[in-house]
Amino acid sequence: MVAPGVSHDTTDYEVAPRLGPDGRLTAASAQSIVQCLDEHGFVVIPRLLSQAETSSGLELVKRAIADPNREAGTFASQTDIRFKRRDFTPLPSNDRVLSFAALLCKRLDKALLEYCGRTRPVLEISTLTSHAGASHQYIHRDPPGVLCMFAAVDDVSSEQGGTVFIPGTHFFNGGEARHGGKANVLMPLIQDRTNARILRYNLAKLRRMHRAGELAAGEYKERVFSRRRDNHQPNLLRFLSARNAVFDISAYRPRSLLARWRNREVVDKAFRLVQTAPKAGTVILYRSDMLHAGPDNRTDRPRYFFSMSIARDVMGEKLRNDGYSPHSTLRADPKTLGDLLDMP
Ligand SMILES: [Fe+2]
Repeated sequence: MVAPGVSHDTTDYEVAPRLGPDGRLTAASAQSIVQCLDEHGFVVIPRLLSQAETSSGLELVKRAIADPNREAGTFASQTDIRFKRRDFTPLPSNDRVLSFAALLCKRLDKALLEYCGRTRPVLEISTLTSHAGASHQYIHRDPPGVLCMFAAVDDVSSEQGGTVFIPGTHFFNGGEARHGGKANVLMPLIQDRTNARILRYNLAKLRRMHRAGELAAGEYKERVFSRRRDNHQPNLLRFLSARNAVFDISAYRPRSLLARWRNREVVDKAFRLVQTAPKAGTVILYRSDMLHAGPDNRTDRPRYFFSMSIARDVMGEKLRNDGYSPHSTLRADPKTLGDLLDMP
């Protein structure tokens, strides 16, 4: 296990949806979802989709990743994507994909509109499918000012890489007052401590796979010694030269180690790591700036997520390109939340 003490109990973060006759969240249900998102930074909404809706989502995801000409995501982790360990694949803006995205937006409209205005752009619609042998992502924050959605279109067990969240680590005005005014000091400590474990875990796993002949030609070198940009592989040269934007050698400076040691009990009390294992039809919403990670898939069964990200605010081009990979068809014909809500 990468993170000792990670909890698999998500009941504190689950809100059962109540739908009105129009198939959309009731106002009270949306309010409960917003409350959970505001307090913890994320919310798990079980059984939001029917079995038939889930199946149609799974089918469009499988169809997309079976396409030999599919486009590849540009982040998290690019090396895993190159070696077919992950299919982080933008989905084309065809009728089936847009209808499925619109279905999710309409059902959740009262909650989404609390965060994203109708004119806010849909930054990405994609599948985050992961396969055996991927690296465990480092604990990170996505670019801020975005509401992200994962829909489990198949059952996802924790062994398949159900997302890990650190509840209550999102930013908001006055949020630094949490944990006795030390929130902004303590959050990097839990992030670094967990990432140090993830680094060791990924290295040990890659060594084991290398010895067992389970890696493709050149894969070990690419994941451990490459100079190419990838924030979620051990890549020791980038780590040592502090060129990994998420976790690097600076976390081992004496001052950082001392701060982690001095605050170890406070950090233990302040934060818990929670790993989700969403059943098919479950939807997870999270505020992009909370601490989270996509673990590795430790099974031979792919983990299928349909994913969508909607901007909450104006967003600079660079930040947008760093964290989101829209399909070329979405770039050519951008959609807003309002466009999806207005779809017939
Ligand atoms: Fe992320």
